[in-house]
Parts: sequence; C-alpha cells; structure tokens
Amino acid sequence: MNPGLSIYDNLGGAEGIRAIIEAFYPRVYKDPLLSPLFPEDMEPVKEKQFMFLSQFFGGPSLFSDAYGHPMLRARHMKFPVTEERAEAWLSCMAGALTDVGIEEPLRSIILNRLSGPAHHFVNTP
Ligand code: HEM
Repeated sequence: MNPGLSIYDNLGGAEGIRAIIEAFYPRVYKDPLLSPLFPEDMEPVKEKQFMFLSQFFGGPSLFSDAYGHPMLRARHMKFPVTEERAEAWLSCMAGALTDVGIEEPLRSIILNRLSGPAHHFVNTP
C-alpha cells in the first residue's frame, strides 16, 4: 500500500473497484438477511455502487455527477436497515476484499471507512 495515494489509486482505480463489486454483490444476494431487500436485477445495483465507491475512495465523482448529492442515509430509509443487516453488509464486503486479494493494512482501512456509514444507515431496531 502507498499511503500517499487515495484508496482508489491503491486499489488500481476503476478496475480494482469493479473487481470488489463483482465479488461483493453475489455475496449480498446469497445473504439471507440482505437478499430480500434487493431487486432481482443485480446489474443496476452494481453500477450505482461502482459509481459511489469510486468517488467515496477518492476517484472521479461519478455518483454525484449522475444523481446529485448522495444523501445515502435518506436513500436507505425505504429499506429496514437493522444493526444485523449493517453487520451482514460489512461482512459481505470483508469477504469480497479477501476474494479479490486486498491485503492489510488496506483491507482494514477500507472496512473502517465503510463501517461508519453502514452503522449510520441503521434505521430500524
Ligand atoms: C448497512 C447495510 C446496508 C443495506 C442493508 C443496504 C441496502 C441497500 C439497498 C436495498 C439498496 C437499493 C438497491 C436498489 O433497489 O437499487 C441500496 C442502495 C445503495 N446503497 Fe446500500 N445498503 C447498506 C449499506 C450501504 C453502505 C455502507 C454504502 C456505501 C457506503 C451503500 C451504498 C449504496 C448506494 C450508493 C446505493 C444506491 C443508492 C441509489 O439508489 O441511488 N449501502 N442499499
């Protein structure tokens, strides 16, 4: 890992984000807590997350350019996000990072960056 570079660049840019997304959503769609929330067609979900994570990790602002301010907590309000679902989401991400071969310390840095938002989106006891 090069600490002088963004997470995006440490992941190898768009290709690296793409690889994580491709490993992440099949896990989400297999997870019994998460899968009922997601639409049948995984492709648009992947594309939005690709755009969001690109900008979140310091790459081009693809998501905001297309959809405006992310306001992600608000965008998740129509789904019952419980503490258990936040943990399940993070554990799918942890698995995806392992699948793709992301090593420490980058792996923990990424999971820590996502952990705040994931718990912030909890809206259901
Ligand atoms: C805490 C657990 C989470 C759950 C259960 C969850 C669930 C969902 C669901 C069901 C959708 C809608 C999919 C669709 O119908 O298109 C969605 C959209 C999205 N999620 Fe999550 N999510 C979680 C955490 C996160 C986190 C931590 C991030 C990023 C930091 C994130 C980023 C997004 C983005 C960018 C979208 C697309 C928003 C849009 O519709 O424009 N989610 N999420």
